[in-house]
Amino acid sequence: MGHKVARDTPDHVAVDSDSAARLSDNALKVTRYFPTLVFSLDLPDSESLNAHLIEAIYAERARDDSGVNKSNFPELGSWHSHVRLHKDDTFAGLVQQVDAVSDMMCRKLGYHTSYRLKIGTMWSIINPPGSSNRAHIHPGCIWSGVYYVQAPKNSGRIEFIDPRTQNMMTQVEYIPGTRRPRNCWTKVRYQPVAGRMLIFPSWLYHSVAPNRSRAKGKDADRIIMSFNLSQEKRR
Ligand SMILES: [Fe+2]
Repeated sequence: MGHKVARDTPDHVAVDSDSAARLSDNALKVTRYFPTLVFSLDLPDSESLNAHLIEAIYAERARDDSGVNKSNFPELGSWHSHVRLHKDDTFAGLVQQVDAVSDMMCRKLGYHTSYRLKIGTMWSIINPPGSSNRAHIHPGCIWSGVYYVQAPKNSGRIEFIDPRTQNMMTQVEYIPGTRRPRNCWTKVRYQPVAGRMLIFPSWLYHSVAPNRSRAKGKDADRIIMSFNLSQEKRR
């Protein structure tokens, strides 16, 4: 039977199998759709801004020591401010920077020029050693951001989780001991860097690992400002 098939096989089949053997890796094209965008930006001259923010944030904690309970763990010492800090002139410097970055994003993303991305809520979190933030999303807005005010070594990376949960239905085996291709990641972690801002989709699940800093006193605190952006018609 095998012999008969071989004899009846038309010539062009043999040619096709030859050309398949000659396929180069470059012949296989890949296109990425539905990407998850994480913007990052290092603010220029952040040192003076951060020094001012650290003072303002500790002052706010002294004024409102209990804060609010969100993704933080107050019982572990994590403090979360109320969410209207953008209305407080003390934080106007950071608000201006966020507004400027938001305008850049609107241009990059082709958003309608009659609309802007406006800060709807803004807050601060202080994570002393041992505290962290549970996985969460930010409902009701488009983009969310974090600005690192103070980020000592080992103070906790932020982790973003693949939003395509279907993608985790079947686990693929990758070559052991190698870094898998970025296109195949199902989570990504960012080291916090003072003066750096990250902006990510509000629907993207994220958490913060425990602060394991060994710095002394308040120098060990991981301090952030965070905000939510929504589209609003320009006046
Ligand atoms: Fe968050």
